[in-house]
Amino acid sequence: MKKKLIAGNWKMNGTAASNAALLKALLDQSAGWNCLVAVCVPAVYMAQVQGIVEGTGIALGSQDVSAYESGAYTGEISAAMLKDFGTRYAIVGHSERRQYHGETDAIVATKATRALAAGITPIVCVGETLAERESGRTEEVVKRQLAAVIHANGHCISEIVVAYEPVWAIGTGKTATPEMAQQVHAVLRAQLQAASEHADRVHILYGGSMNAANAEQLLAQPDIDGGLVGGAALKAADFLSIIAAAK
Ligand code: G3P
Repeated sequence: MKKKLIAGNWKMNGTAASNAALLKALLDQSAGWNCLVAVCVPAVYMAQVQGIVEGTGIALGSQDVSAYESGAYTGEISAAMLKDFGTRYAIVGHSERRQYHGETDAIVATKATRALAAGITPIVCVGETLAERESGRTEEVVKRQLAAVIHANGHCISEIVVAYEPVWAIGTGKTATPEMAQQVHAVLRAQLQAASEHADRVHILYGGSMNAANAEQLLAQPDIDGGLVGGAALKAADFLSIIAAAK
């Protein structure tokens, strides 16, 4: 059985001092961890965090990657640059990037391609808005989002991680019930299975107000292979409780 993956998405939070303190508190308790752990940090802190986590039980992740390979793209950070700093995972298609930066399914698929080509595992985020859920379109939306990534990366689709993050559950304190989340995860698993005989290898993470109190039940679902954790990843005690729940 594959180990679960607990990834923190720090979003646009932290300082050099608070990062160092948070990572020290996590690493001090890392001896008995029974799951994979990653932190996806702001780009400016990649070098700092690489220096702290290298050779430990915490893998380094980015929160985005450029859809371009290299060249005159001011402000962009390429997959090769991220790889240079020991990046293991790159979040692509987070709903905040789809919403505030106009990222389309096609752009997200290209970003996944760039990450894979550089040897970085893309954490592909999919998820419906509240309006889409209420109009019964959840399955259609997440399948469309994942289909774009499968279409562009069919040959190595078992190398990705998928994160189901219902937009209405992000940062709101509203969590999908374990049954609701499992239902969508099963749909995503079936879609991956139709594309690859190795689909069972793929980690499908749940994200959206996962916390110390609800993690155990969510992680007990058969197709929930871990979590992509926002707010609760910024507090060592909360993140450690989620890691402990990932058996
Ligand atoms: O990527 C993680 C995420 O969007 C969930 O955030 O704060 O609801 O755990 P949060």
